[in-house]
Amino acid sequence: MFVVLVFLLLPSTKTNTVPEVDSSKKKNVIFMVTDGMGPASLSLARSFRQHRDNLAIDDVLELDHYLVGSSRTRSSSSLVTDSAAGATAFSCALKSYNGAIGVDPHKQPCGTILEGLKLQGYLTGLVVTTRITDATPAAFSSHVDYRFQEDLIAEHQLGEYPLGRAVDLIIGGGRCHFYPTSDAEGHGCRADSRNLIEDAQKNGWQYVGDRAQFDALQGGKNISLPLLGLLADGDIPYDIDRDSKVHPSLAEQVKVALTALSEATKDSDKGFFLLIEGSRIDHAGHHNDPAAQVREVLAYDKAFQEVIKFIDESDVETVAISTSDHETGGLVTARQISPSYPDYLWRPEVLLNSTHSGEYVARKVFNYKHKDDLKKFKKFIAEEIIEKDLGVTNYTSEEIELVVENAASVNDVLYVFNNIISVRSQTGWTTHGHSAVDVNIYAHTNSESIKAKLLSNKAHHGLLGNHENIEIGEFMASITGVDLEEVTTSIQGTKHSP
Ligand SMILES: *[C@@H]1O[C@H](CO)[C@@H](O)[C@H](O)[C@H]1NC(C)=O
Ligand SMILES: *[C@@H]1O[C@H](CO)[C@@H](O)[C@H](O)[C@H]1NC(C)=O
Ligand SMILES: *[C@@H]1O[C@H](CO)[C@@H](O)[C@H](O)[C@H]1NC(C)=O
Ligand SMILES: [Zn+2]
Repeated sequence: MFVVLVFLLLPSTKTNTVPEVDSSKKKNVIFMVTDGMGPASLSLARSFRQHRDNLAIDDVLELDHYLVGSSRTRSSSSLVTDSAAGATAFSCALKSYNGAIGVDPHKQPCGTILEGLKLQGYLTGLVVTTRITDATPAAFSSHVDYRFQEDLIAEHQLGEYPLGRAVDLIIGGGRCHFYPTSDAEGHGCRADSRNLIEDAQKNGWQYVGDRAQFDALQGGKNISLPLLGLLADGDIPYDIDRDSKVHPSLAEQVKVALTALSEATKDSDKGFFLLIEGSRIDHAGHHNDPAAQVREVLAYDKAFQEVIKFIDESDVETVAISTSDHETGGLVTARQISPSYPDYLWRPEVLLNSTHSGEYVARKVFNYKHKDDLKKFKKFIAEEIIEKDLGVTNYTSEEIELVVENAASVNDVLYVFNNIISVRSQTGWTTHGHSAVDVNIYAHTNSESIKAKLLSNKAHHGLLGNHENIEIGEFMASITGVDLEEVTTSIQGTKHSP
């Protein structure tokens, strides 16, 4: 009896042991970032889609099936992080200050998971919907003291730093920092006179600059790596505004990347690392634009679906982790719109009626030629913009006045339009900036050993439950055997100050 009791009281080592992941086995690591997407964005997108497609209450997003934990997002300098520190937490697995791109709190370049895997022989890719030189992709593929150093970020991304070229595939926006400001067609914004796209082509990059060239990639089957795909000067348009004849969807971009990278690593004993970002969920949050945001989240969910399909069909050990760097907008799916006690509801039907983002209609108003004729201008705002583009019929004369007053600035007037939609849909926003709420972690793998580790808790360096954001970077390094400190040593000479 005594013996049995002792046995029962001893902690069971068996059930607590997580099998080690064989880091040398061929692997694909897909890291996905929903920039600025907090839990409320999912509630919003789910309810919107249920309403739009007349789906059951229990119909959920693809992402919802893969929830494993949540992430605490603070940076070394603030409880509210920015995307630069947020992405550096994932890429270098360390906390740094807001604005830091692949550098530590002392502004020293830190080795990233992308670089570590490249050094091991993996192929690497970046797929985003914003500028490729923006914070999230930059923090994996460059090292600068401040996120605004986008000219230098572009140079690093093409291999102009001690490691040489670490990126094999780029698809996104952001031609601007690859062309000089003097560029005749007005694509450029570099402070120097360099044309990095010409340089890249001389160095063997295949360049793709428009939809036709993107289509000639044949879904990824007709690519020669390295590939530089820059499909817009700045951001790729919001999905709600996107003309599919001009810009591919994020899901299409992802499909091309997955096909190209898996094809190119087919005969290798190393797989690929791919960063995918739903970049503009964040922008819709900054703009307080619920109609744009639900479409961004749904476009990301489609891209996530492509990744799940790829993993389930792949015979290479593959893992995808999807999380956010932070929440943006302080979004809530309810809003008190009058002094009396509020009804418990919000109205997704208002978002469905709106067929353009606030940014898009703000540009339209800004560019309107006959602002001097006030009567004509007001009619244009009421009929062309608010009724037709936003699908709102019960606008007030005060709202039209507000548009007129703010029409000289795209940034100011977009908030007026987005407020018209937010109030009517009873969507709440608490800031034009970021918030510190925890964000979700999602994951999927076709490997039993990676799955066991993923679903283990903190003690076993898994991702189940609540985590610091840097633990996600640590997880990717641990399953692949990347020694980030070693990578840091190999990039010491990197030029990084402004
Ligand atoms: C494959 O890509 C090349 C350019 O690299 C292009 O000339 C060719 O037309 C493409 N093939 C197809 C079938 O689209
Ligand atoms: C949506 O648009 C239609 C047509 O303009 C309008 O009749 C309806 O009231 C709108 N619905 C909402 C919720 O604004
Ligand atoms: C406009 O209609 C919506 C319902 O579609 C209602 O909630 C809102 O109060 C109305 N707004 C104004 C200013 O009349
Ligand atoms: Zn942001």
